[in-house]
Amino acid sequence: MADSGILYGIGVGPGDPELITLKGLRLLRNCPVLAYPAPEAGDSLARQIAAPHLPGSQIEIPIRMPLLVDRFPAQEVYTKAAADIADHLGAGRDVAVLCLGDPFFYGSFMYLFARLAAAHRVVVVPGVTSVSAGAAALGQPLVGRNETLAVIPASLPDSELERRIGDADAIVFVKLGRHFARLRALLGRMGLAVTARYIEHASMPSEQAPALADVDPAAVPYFSLVIARRGGVKP
Ligand SMILES: C[S@@+](CC[C@H](N)C(=O)[O-])C[C@H]1O[C@@H](n2cnc3c(N)ncnc32)[C@H](O)[C@@H]1O
Repeated sequence: MADSGILYGIGVGPGDPELITLKGLRLLRNCPVLAYPAPEAGDSLARQIAAPHLPGSQIEIPIRMPLLVDRFPAQEVYTKAAADIADHLGAGRDVAVLCLGDPFFYGSFMYLFARLAAAHRVVVVPGVTSVSAGAAALGQPLVGRNETLAVIPASLPDSELERRIGDADAIVFVKLGRHFARLRALLGRMGLAVTARYIEHASMPSEQAPALADVDPAAVPYFSLVIARRGGVKP
C-alpha cells in the first residue's frame, strides 16, 4: 500500500456547484484521475456539478450504469470500474470519485469502497445531502429537540413503508420515480399527506416544489424527495 495512490470518495453535494465543500473542491481539482457514475448514454450529474471547477487536464473514468432491475450486471460494472481505478492507484495516481450528495448516504461509492478499501487507502469527504438541500429549499426545519427522522426509499412495498414510517416525527422519502403515486396514496391513508411536501432537483436551476396534490406522477424525476411531518412543524 506504501506507493499506492489514495482513493478519494468526494461528495459534490445535491446540485448547486457552490455546495461543494472546500476540502472536496481542493481534492477534485488536484487529483490526476476522476471517476464518476454516469447513465448508459449522456452526461453524469456528479460531473456536471463539479464541471465549473475542473482544470480540464484530468484522466476521466465514467462509470456507465445500464438501467437494469437485475443487480448482477450492475455489480459487474462496479467490478470493472474498481479494476480500472486500482490500476491508477497501483501506479501511484490519486483517484477522486465524484459522488452526488454524500458518498455514504445511499451513494454508489460504497460499491467501489467495498471492492477497494482492503487494498488501498481510502479517504471519504462528506457532502451536503439531498435531504439537507430539500429541507433548506422548502424552508422547512427537518427535526428539532427530541424528534426522530426516518429516511425511507419509496421503492419499498406499502407494508414496509408503513412499518418503517412507524412513529417517526419527520419522514423523508427518497427514490420516488415511478413509486410516487403509490406513496402519495399511502400518505393520504395514513393522514400524512396534509403536511407532506414534494421537491425535485433541490438546489439545481430546475428546482421545483409543487403542492403534493398537483404533482403529475408520470413526470416525477429520479432526483426528487417527499418530506412528511407528523403534526406539522412545531414552533
Ligand atoms: C442514490 S440516492 C443518492 C443520494 C445522495 N448520495 C445524497 O447524499 O443525497 C438518489 C436519491 O437521492 C435523492 N436526491 C438526490 N439529489 C437530489 C436533489 N438534488 N433533489 C431531490 N432529491 C435528490 C432522490 O430521492 C434520489 O432518488
